[in-house]
Amino acid sequence: MPFDLSTHVRSGLRPPAAAPFKGFPPYYFIGGNNAGEALPMPELIAAATRALEKEGRNLATYNLKTGAQGYRPLREWLVERLKSWTQIECSVDNIIVTSGSTQALELVQKVLLDPGDVVVVEGGTYGSAMTRLHDIEADYVGVAMDDDGIIPAELEKVLAELKAVGKRCKYIYTIPTVQNPTGTIMSMERRHALLDIAQRHDLMIFEDDCYADLTWSGTRPPAIKTLDTEGRVIYCGSFSKSIAPALRVGYLVADWPFIAQALTAKTDAGSGALEQITLAEFLPAHFDSHVAKLTALFKQKCDAIQDALHESFGTSAEFRPPEGGIFIWVTLPDTVDTSKLAQAAAAAGISINPGRDWVADPETGKHSFRLCFGQPSFEQIKDGVAKLAEVCHEEFGVPLTSGNVQRS
Ligand SMILES: Cc1ncc(COP(=O)(O)O)c(C=O)c1O
Repeated sequence: MPFDLSTHVRSGLRPPAAAPFKGFPPYYFIGGNNAGEALPMPELIAAATRALEKEGRNLATYNLKTGAQGYRPLREWLVERLKSWTQIECSVDNIIVTSGSTQALELVQKVLLDPGDVVVVEGGTYGSAMTRLHDIEADYVGVAMDDDGIIPAELEKVLAELKAVGKRCKYIYTIPTVQNPTGTIMSMERRHALLDIAQRHDLMIFEDDCYADLTWSGTRPPAIKTLDTEGRVIYCGSFSKSIAPALRVGYLVADWPFIAQALTAKTDAGSGALEQITLAEFLPAHFDSHVAKLTALFKQKCDAIQDALHESFGTSAEFRPPEGGIFIWVTLPDTVDTSKLAQAAAAAGISINPGRDWVADPETGKHSFRLCFGQPSFEQIKDGVAKLAEVCHEEFGVPLTSGNVQRS
């Protein structure tokens, strides 16, 4: 009998990616990548060299320098940064350094969820967060949002509906500061309202702040975690968007009882030590100036992609200017199915995220798509969006004619 792997893997696992990675297509607007040209190479090389000189021989031992919670000087820097940027007051004991914030998401799910439990998410949310919930057989329900974030009355409605069918929501997953995929920032009033609802319904909140370093204004509202006096809010952040995703360094911040549970759940024998030690060497002198430069570049790319959308799609493409980050959420007329558009675009060498994968209810994302602009060059942004408009015109007659400055 020929060997068939699918008869051996755990039931319910999704099919694996189609093929091994063969490089990026010419116009790559997915993946949440950073801008290679903005990496502060001399400073990172110097930091990595100092890290190896100081601690290199300790890499021979599991966890010797990082412990289960992460490299202490990195956590000490995070305590100060959290205080100044998010206004969270915590100690090194409240922080676990994780392998990207992806691992923070996994730890929260592992600690809080049983199969069948429900998580409330924002109507548009991080695609992989939903995939991971699906993988552990948890359910999720989306709540409608507007430009200020999750709508409190809609959240109440969803919670009442869950209660009516005997299901209890375990936690609310929110990306309040530079939301993925909308790029909005939740207002302070909504942050208070969210915590108030969580308290009344005895829910936890998981605040994912992985894009929060990248606001155009250089300011941000205090984290929801700062309003929490009970240990109800768990917070995570990442260096993927502010420095480089391949470092795989993120962090989870919570009160000690949750941290203790998460440490039990973290069974990877420690996150990469060299990355943590290198960051601890790099951050104190260079983080602020690097983030200021990076954000200025992303803002220029964000302006460029909005110009390209105006030029190539005209009024067919609706979007709200993002308030920071590396992506834009675009909605096309009802005649365009963006899943089909994504397929046709892929054949033309253009990768986009169809809206369906970035919303809790696939129907609500049918005419939208997400474009990441952190990695592509200015030229790729301009040409790629123009080519995407050509493909869209051929497939759906939108925009009305192909070529620049069409209005439909
Ligand atoms: C909202 C959100 N959270 C978490 C992550 C995971 O990022 P990382 O594991 O690289 O920190 C991403 C990545 O794109 C994201 O968009």
